[in-house]
Amino acid sequence: MAEIIWGLATSHVPSIGAAMDNNRTSDPYWPPLFDGYEPARKWMAENTPDVAIVVYNDHANAIDLDVVPTFAIGTADLYPVADEGWGPRPVPTVLGAPELSEHLVKELIDDGFDITVCREFKVDHGLTVSMSVYCPDPGTAWPCLVIPLIVNVIQYPQPTAARCHAFGKALDEAIRSFPEGLKVAVFGTGGMSHQLAGARAGLINEPFDRMFLQAIEVDPVSLTELTLEDYVREAGSEGIELTMWLVMRGALDEQVTRIHEAYHVPASNTAAALALFDNRISI
Ligand code: DHB
Ligand code: FE
Repeated sequence: MAEIIWGLATSHVPSIGAAMDNNRTSDPYWPPLFDGYEPARKWMAENTPDVAIVVYNDHANAIDLDVVPTFAIGTADLYPVADEGWGPRPVPTVLGAPELSEHLVKELIDDGFDITVCREFKVDHGLTVSMSVYCPDPGTAWPCLVIPLIVNVIQYPQPTAARCHAFGKALDEAIRSFPEGLKVAVFGTGGMSHQLAGARAGLINEPFDRMFLQAIEVDPVSLTELTLEDYVREAGSEGIELTMWLVMRGALDEQVTRIHEAYHVPASNTAAALALFDNRISI
């Protein structure tokens, strides 16, 4: 039986990856953010999973806006790193776990979640920056296999917060029914409050973010009661990415142990956060 050992919530801001890629993490702008990652990175390095399921949104890099799957799972052997305009990030190719992917697709569809199957695509900053937050110096290979799980949070109509949470619960069931004894980590990426364009560009709502960081641990159901309009109003048009944290949280047990948390403003013009949860029962 495969099992989820931990869950990570993290922002996936492109400039966080660029700071690492260009050796700028010691520039005065960045230590307040990267110092906050340290305890979580150390703990995750001591608790390496076999497979990471990274819940993220493609930002119109791999998936054309003409075809927008609500939930999609990658089933490839490997996923090249996307070129988002400045060349692909200098990070390792992402190696997949196709047998587990195929199993998840079948189980989730049987369970009523009609997944789109993606056999070939490139992964953008939503996935690669999240991997870099987890593992800053991967060398030639990431420490684990990866299954990309894509959620449409960018084009109306997006799945509701409640649907994302229910999807996470179904994901947990599907992982548990995989016969091989794999250790799995689940990443929920994106957020926190941010709006990249329009009249409210630069919106940061720290009280909402702090409420969300608390509730994602102890009362995620309260976050499923918010409408997508609530998310956009409170967290900005791209802050709606936070619903992907609910996929991760739905996949974890009701009781989890918070290992670490960090919140920092600004990273570009966003609020960035990290929250790490151990999913193994502590006695
Ligand atoms: C930016 C892009 C993102 O996808 C995100 O989640 C946060 C910030 C950006 O371009 O700054
Ligand atoms: Fe994003």
